[in-house]
Amino acid sequence: MKSRRLLLAANWKMNAAPKQALVNAHGDRSLNPYHPHSDIDVVVFPTVLDLRSCMDAGLVVGAQCGHAEALGAHTGDISMAMLKGVGCRYVLCGHSERRTHHGETDADVAAQVVAALEQKMHPVVCIGETLEEREKGHAEDVVKRQLKALPLESDITIAYEPVWAIGTGKTASAKQAQGMHALIRSLLPEDRQEKTRILYGGSVKADNAEELLRQPDIDGALIGGASLKPEDFAQIVKAGEMVTAES
Ligand code: PGA
Repeated sequence: MKSRRLLLAANWKMNAAPKQALVNAHGDRSLNPYHPHSDIDVVVFPTVLDLRSCMDAGLVVGAQCGHAEALGAHTGDISMAMLKGVGCRYVLCGHSERRTHHGETDADVAAQVVAALEQKMHPVVCIGETLEEREKGHAEDVVKRQLKALPLESDITIAYEPVWAIGTGKTASAKQAQGMHALIRSLLPEDRQEKTRILYGGSVKADNAEELLRQPDIDGALIGGASLKPEDFAQIVKAGEMVTAES
């Protein structure tokens, strides 16, 4: 039973937007799985270079990251205010690749979330443990620490992405993911527990999406590799629609 509307988020990382995402803007929307759907939310996160063409194609668009400060001496960065200015409605905050390769801390991520909310953009905030942390039995503590830094009383989406499952083909089992999602939900302020969407991310594919999306505390997915392949993404969207229709 799905009590929250599913959100399927395509994270294209440092890859060009799939050509199919940019066609059929005014034609048959059923031919383009990236288009907004009536029963579920679909959002794409292209590179900044593709933001405009995705918007022109009628897609709901988010940025992959944004700087918390509005302007200033931050070479290479783009502020939340600027992203909002070009029409982004969503923004990813604290993806593990940003935390690892760009040294973003829990405090940096929290500042980005606050800045995004100030701009009335919807933050999708990534949390999740590394393989080493899981093997040491620290997975729950890491997730609790990452959550604690966030303004959880606000309208945000959380994406639980175990780092060991990202791009590796190793998905958390539906049971493992559901367990962590239930824990995350229990840590939210009481009045946000029913409303906040918690996405799962990490090697979500056409063949495992349905089982994951059926879990009661999984409210959608953040999809990397498979979202670059239109046929695979179409199947994930179909799984989301099916799960929604049954509930
Ligand atoms: P993946 O990436 O689906 O390729 O594992 C997910 C993500 O990093 O958001």
